[in-house]
Amino acid sequence: MPSRKTPSTEVLLGVLEALPPGQRLWVHGVGGCLHPLLRGGDAVRVLRCGPGALARGDVALLRQGRKLVAHVVVSTRPWRTAPLLGGVDAPAGVTLGRVVAVKRGEWVVPLPRPVRPALWMTQRALAAVWARPGGRVVYRRVRDFFFSGWSRPLRRRLVGPLEVRLLRADDLDALLAFAGERLVVSIGFLRRQLRERWGLDAPARRGAAAGAFDAEGRMRGFAWVDSYRQEALPLDGVWVRSLVVAPQVRRMGVATRLLGCLLDEARRQGEVWVHADVDDDNTASLQTFARLGFRPAPAELTRQANEAWDAAGRAKTLVVLERELGP
Ligand SMILES: CC(C)(COP(=O)(O)OP(=O)(O)OC[C@H]1O[C@@H](n2cnc3c(N)ncnc32)[C@H](O)[C@@H]1OP(=O)(O)O)[C@@H](O)C(=O)NCCC(=O)NCCS
Repeated sequence: MPSRKTPSTEVLLGVLEALPPGQRLWVHGVGGCLHPLLRGGDAVRVLRCGPGALARGDVALLRQGRKLVAHVVVSTRPWRTAPLLGGVDAPAGVTLGRVVAVKRGEWVVPLPRPVRPALWMTQRALAAVWARPGGRVVYRRVRDFFFSGWSRPLRRRLVGPLEVRLLRADDLDALLAFAGERLVVSIGFLRRQLRERWGLDAPARRGAAAGAFDAEGRMRGFAWVDSYRQEALPLDGVWVRSLVVAPQVRRMGVATRLLGCLLDEARRQGEVWVHADVDDDNTASLQTFARLGFRPAPAELTRQANEAWDAAGRAKTLVVLERELGP
């Protein structure tokens, strides 16, 4: 897979601000505010212009402090912009331009001016649903419906066969592209762990990371197993971490295969137990682990894991699971 080196936001801001009005530029990593249309790692094409050139329903690229965000223009007088799903009003930002196209994977979708009313109405409707109590639950149900069993044959055909295997050092680019879109894990940590510990070719091989790859080498699912002490949490044993499968390939057994790969490797490294901690409301994950024979861990370990995460500033209750690895 070609490597995509993303310039830092500082560099990008400098380039954008120096760009003359009327010029266009592809910008990565500002799609989070256009969720679910775009994800964090997707790209937008920006036409450099000031706020005077934007109207209701346009997508504005804004500088907010040292951050770049793409927001829908909700009104021009007073000037208000908001994420696609609504939420808090944007703090005052500097308008850098108008988004004229969005790119998700291989798909480029132009945003010509005639789509403005439709985008504005969509933003208003989504924001209203999202703001209602239970709105998020409805959204998740709709999303789960689209990515559930009935659409599996179609998705399987679109994505093609997936290879699930342990990672090597040269999988770093694919891993970082996946992490940029879907993981809340430091890039530096992943880079170091893959090079020094997890990679099949790592000098001090310990723990492991597994990925699911499509025919183009794009990563579609990922997880690792390692000691929590690598992340400075005072918990013994090895734990499954960052299990994430891209929505397009969910319910196709990808998580099951990733976990199978990691359990085999943990066994090979002499581990006797593997643990996992899962948000207590994450049915999909709880089911996936249960199907692989993970069972609730003793109360004392559950307490320790919750305490360790509370101390690290996490609010949700975790269910701790464990599985004994046979010989
Ligand atoms: C949880 C997650 C990794 C599961 O990935 P997956 O590849 O879809 O899982 P699998 O296809 O291997 O599913 C195995 C079994 O788990 C159960 N399962 C998986 N997703 C489910 C869901 N949304 N609802 C109910 N059961 C589910 C099913 O029994 C499934 O088998 P089936 O499809 O034959 O019925 C995926 O939904 C995901 O990435 N979620 C977001 C990130 C996340 O929550 N990660 C877990 C952090 S601990």
